Amino acid sequence: MGPSLNQSTPSEHPPRTIRIWDLPTRIFHWLLAVLFAVAWISGEMELAWLHVRSGEAMLGLLLFRIAWGFVGGDTALFHNFVRGPQKIRRYLHALATGETKGTLHVGHNPAGGAMVMALITGCLLAVGLGLFSQEDDDPLFTGALAHLLPQNYAELVAEIHEGWFGIVAALVALHVAVNLFYLLVLDNNLIRPMISGSIIVKDSTLQEPRMGKTWKALLVAALIGAGLYAGLNSL
Ligand code: HEM
Repeated sequence: MGPSLNQSTPSEHPPRTIRIWDLPTRIFHWLLAVLFAVAWISGEMELAWLHVRSGEAMLGLLLFRIAWGFVGGDTALFHNFVRGPQKIRRYLHALATGETKGTLHVGHNPAGGAMVMALITGCLLAVGLGLFSQEDDDPLFTGALAHLLPQNYAELVAEIHEGWFGIVAALVALHVAVNLFYLLVLDNNLIRPMISGSIIVKDSTLQEPRMGKTWKALLVAALIGAGLYAGLNSL
């Protein structure tokens, strides 16, 4: 069993650096953010080829993250951060009453875990709908699987795709706002570890979580990339 990812209250010990996010999880995150922006801007600018390709790349990335949630490092594993409503409520209550001050979560806190799952599911649904979309006024905006639907259905899916994107964009805005709230109000910088992978801790009892192996991530990415390429080109 991996180390406990529960919160800990720091006791006075010399600070040391521990790694909490493995490289594949960090690359996934920032690549997803870039692709999200590219898909959005290319959609607005009617750059169909770029929009479709960035959406497909997002799909591959999201499928990779789902697989990584089962075989990745401790903090990437779903079962280490997906929590039920009661734990999420308790965490939010503790946050509101200031009880979480001075405590540290190695990995996603319960509310963060819920947001992560909402972002992954929301993005997955957006790109999934995109695959079956066909714009009525621009045939270049055609998802790789749109030909499987009658044209009027594919056009309807395109409208749902666009509407759903608005909801995901709002979720992303909330995600960024929450991170800024932690940084500016709670003085808890969650962004730096998502870049560097590490945090500084004073608690000597805190065990460093197991990080996912990069070779394993490359293998998973290659399998998903090949499967997706074959699937999108053969259906
Ligand atoms: C389109 C934009 C974005 C999307 C779709 C997105 C999505 C996600 C997802 C899926 C995760 C979970 C990471 C994982 O466990 O694999 C995450 C975590 C995180 N994101 Fe984003 N993100 C976006 C932009 C940003 C931006 C701009 C920031 C910086 C302000 C940011 C800061 C973070 C942080 C700090 C975490 C870790 C939170 C924690 O410690 O629990 N994200 N994001």
